[in-house]
Amino acid sequence: MSTYKDVLPRLPRFITTDFSSSEDNLCGCEAVLAANDGRGPGLRKARRITFKVRSILNEGGVSGLGLSIAKEFLKNGLRGVTLMDINEENGHDVDTSLKNEYGPEKVIFFKGNVTNSSEFEGAFKKTIEVFNNIDIVVNSAGVADEVDAKKSIDINLGGVLTGTYLAMDNYLPKYKTMQHPVIVNISSIFGLDGIACFIVYTATKHAVLGIGKCLSTKEHFQATGAKIITICPGVTETPLVSTCKALPGRYDDIAQEIVPKFYAQQPHVVSRALVKILNICETGDVWIIEDDKCKQVEIPDRFSMKVLKTLDV
Ligand SMILES: NC(=O)c1ccc[n+]([C@@H]2O[C@H](COP(=O)([O-])OP(=O)(O)OC[C@H]3O[C@@H](n4cnc5c(N)ncnc54)[C@H](O)[C@@H]3O)[C@@H](O)[C@H]2O)c1
Repeated sequence: MSTYKDVLPRLPRFITTDFSSSEDNLCGCEAVLAANDGRGPGLRKARRITFKVRSILNEGGVSGLGLSIAKEFLKNGLRGVTLMDINEENGHDVDTSLKNEYGPEKVIFFKGNVTNSSEFEGAFKKTIEVFNNIDIVVNSAGVADEVDAKKSIDINLGGVLTGTYLAMDNYLPKYKTMQHPVIVNISSIFGLDGIACFIVYTATKHAVLGIGKCLSTKEHFQATGAKIITICPGVTETPLVSTCKALPGRYDDIAQEIVPKFYAQQPHVVSRALVKILNICETGDVWIIEDDKCKQVEIPDRFSMKVLKTLDV
């Protein structure tokens, strides 16, 4: 039996990064990883790795975190990004501004709904048609709408599942240029903890972590070569937060009380962290990016959980 932790040998912990050219200039250039080998304090050995990302598909990419990720990658030398999003108006505006800034050949906007698998596949096909390859898929589309629970489940869970399957089974193994292409699924700190006013959101974000646990097992990694990582941002200043809807009554009262108390980090904190994470990540990684800090965490499996009581049965 294998668990999600039962993957290929992991890199040593305590990794520090020292990027050879300019700060954060990682995609498509060389990065140096200096790893503590565990034989004492200080850095004993350094490994040189090459990290090249040519093109990515970024769904939910014309606002908030998705847009910030696209910009950060382009800033770091990405050759091409497909922004798939349901919001056509934002899509065209973002498409124009990114093309002006980074070059018309580098950006595609594809109008599509992540809950429609043929539209979703259309975005993959368009990416291959224009850029010939695809190395990273970022599943970013999401809503925080407790009133329309079905919509939240369809987008936050169904959309991530569709994107993950298409990436892992059909597109990344065939069209990658990196040895190990990466699926980045965006969960949340509420995929790890619960919040009293956003129950459906919390449930869908827990589910996103579940997808990563299953598909980072060695069977999938060996068959596809694709890594899957999950990032769990803390509260970040984006339209999702300003438009989030709790159920009326008690739920909304709690939301009014709790939400303003969170520190809201800026989207670039998440996108800059992601660029760094992509240089060192292994399949199954879970990263929390909250309060302007980024840390990798290990979620205990059931055998490592603290046992509170046992009963004779
Ligand atoms: N903002 C936060 O505090 C925060 C924290 C943790 C996790 N997240 C997660 O990050 C992801 C991005 O959220 P954000 O904060 O950038 O929100 P956002 O509202 O700024 O961006 C979400 C994007 O998804 C798109 N979208 C929504 N439904 C879609 C659909 N059916 N098909 C295609 N596109 C669709 C929207 O049009 C929008 O452009 C979400 O999964 C969210 O749950 C956000």
